Amino acid sequence: MSELVIKNGKIVLPERTISGDILIAEGKIEKIGKNLSGGIILDVKGKYVLPGLIDAHVHFREPGGSNKEDWFTGSSAAAAGGVSCVLEMPNTQPPTVTGELLNEKRKYARRSVVDYGFHFGASTSNIDELRRVEGIASVKFYMGSTTGSLLVESDAILYEQLRVLAKRNIPATVHAESERMISYLTNKLRSTCRIDAEAYSEARPNMSAAEAANRILSLTKLAGNHTHLCHVSTKEEVDILGIYRANAQVSSEAAPHHLFLTKKDYKELGTRAKTNPPMRSKEDQDALWKALMNGTIDMIATDHAPHLLDSKDWGIWEAPSGVPGLETMLPLLLDAVNHDRLTLEQVARLTAENPARIFSIKNKGQIKAGYDADLTIVDMSLAKKVENDKLFTKCAWSPFAGRKLKGWPVKTIVRGNVVYDEGTINKNKGEEVRYDRFS
Ligand code: DOR
Ligand code: ZN
Ligand code: ZN
Repeated sequence: MSELVIKNGKIVLPERTISGDILIAEGKIEKIGKNLSGGIILDVKGKYVLPGLIDAHVHFREPGGSNKEDWFTGSSAAAAGGVSCVLEMPNTQPPTVTGELLNEKRKYARRSVVDYGFHFGASTSNIDELRRVEGIASVKFYMGSTTGSLLVESDAILYEQLRVLAKRNIPATVHAESERMISYLTNKLRSTCRIDAEAYSEARPNMSAAEAANRILSLTKLAGNHTHLCHVSTKEEVDILGIYRANAQVSSEAAPHHLFLTKKDYKELGTRAKTNPPMRSKEDQDALWKALMNGTIDMIATDHAPHLLDSKDWGIWEAPSGVPGLETMLPLLLDAVNHDRLTLEQVARLTAENPARIFSIKNKGQIKAGYDADLTIVDMSLAKKVENDKLFTKCAWSPFAGRKLKGWPVKTIVRGNVVYDEGTINKNKGEEVRYDRFS
């Protein structure tokens, strides 16, 4: 592969931002410095260069739901959002709960234009699969029911499976909502004929997330594994994380829809804002931001969950849960940088460096010699609205449609290939990532 030089960038390194060039050869960063030359020149004229974003939590829909998203459309949405690598969840149809099904999924992923990895699914009966599966980012546990059929409620099974992961040094990723609480409350609210969107947040209240988080982290401490808590959405979970982080292997993420939307947005968005876990209060949102700033929450991950608009506009109990997020995460964060809510270095840490470290992804997550040349060029002064008809996700809508945001990705580079270029997706063959913890 020919050499590429990114000229005149403001390069966001982990601790500081420097002005200079990046020399890329064979898809890797060869050198960062001044006045570099050789091969094709890409002059970015003072724009910021971020490490390509790694989204540790996406749902594409193959197999079983390719009318909502397939690997080409989902990965194109990633590239358009400045995301050069995705880790995909197992709640497809069928769910990814055996080595054979994982290999099937790998065939679909060949169409990806960005790099990728897989979270494997835990079921109540696949512990033998967990003993032998290789090459995965994590094993995902659903403690509360959501899109798809995966659910592990029993503490005995959870503990047994976490022990296997502890021995194998594989992280658990957990959707922590208490099935017992949410099924009781859902039945209760439905029987009173509540059909307003807010009722959904009442059916899955803070306490149902906090109880499950507390339980899984308590089991984690006993089992000795690493648990990554997905989509932390409540102040109570933040408090619980604070306690367990001190004496157990714990990490966590927050989702953009919990950072930039609240229960108040039901008014405008109705059932479109239905997600699991649901919309929360402003107080919860403030606690999430604070936790991101002080390191209690380690990363931002989209939980990109494409559903067709027709179905999102069904009733609050019937509509599927989830919102797409790949194309709006970075613009929302850059807009927040422009409003002094965080720095670009923090964006890089929360969306690239920390996900790579926590999931042990080889050679990614930082702009560093020897690392993959995964880079996202951003224009901090470009202001435009989120528009549904400009999106690459097959579901073709966003809960943020109509929002004017300042700060957008303009080019996404995956191992030296410009995959997203100012509105166009170029051909690229995404590759499966490797993990430092597997030989
Ligand atoms: O809102 C959600 N949507 N939460 C989940 O846990 C799953 C996701 C999906 O796959 O649709
Ligand atoms: Zn989840
Ligand atoms: Zn999810």
